[in-house]
Amino acid sequence: MNKKNIILTGFMGTGKSSLGQLLAQKLHTEFIDTDQLIEERAGKSITAIFQDEGEASFRRQEAALVQELAERQNLVIATGGGLLLKPENVSALQRNGQIFCLVATPEEILDRISQQPGTRPLLANPDPLQKISELLKQRAATYEQFPRISTSGRSPEQLLEILLRKIIPHD
Ligand code: S3P
Repeated sequence: MNKKNIILTGFMGTGKSSLGQLLAQKLHTEFIDTDQLIEERAGKSITAIFQDEGEASFRRQEAALVQELAERQNLVIATGGGLLLKPENVSALQRNGQIFCLVATPEEILDRISQQPGTRPLLANPDPLQKISELLKQRAATYEQFPRISTSGRSPEQLLEILLRKIIPHD
């Protein structure tokens, strides 16, 4: 049976990749992390892509990958936090998938991001907490269009249970 893709989005550091991996294991499906795939194909890190080619080039690579993934089925996809800022990426992925958005507070996001220094070029800022709040405000309308799951105080297993209940079965 062909099944729709499940797509996890949300701000950096909200745990999309961890939850996506758990969900894929549970559903026995393939897991794709868009950042990781872009890094593998480019042969360099996201930080290096931003430095060498600029953000616009990274966004083009994301959009090209979306077109490819939208043609596939039975995937669990964790997106980069800015990938669905382009409405055309949303409509492509929604044609064949359900999108969910993970939510965390700016403090929790900073805490998680701080454990992976140098990996988030958009937050390379003297005041990362302020930058996170600013980007969250700018992106609120994008993230709010999807069913949301708050990750605050919840274990990965609890989040998996919540997500499984939200996934709408289909033929
Ligand atoms: C970005 C989020 C990052 C990565 C890039 C840009 C964003 O992914 O795609 O640094 O614009 O929010 P994560 O959300 O996996 O950190």
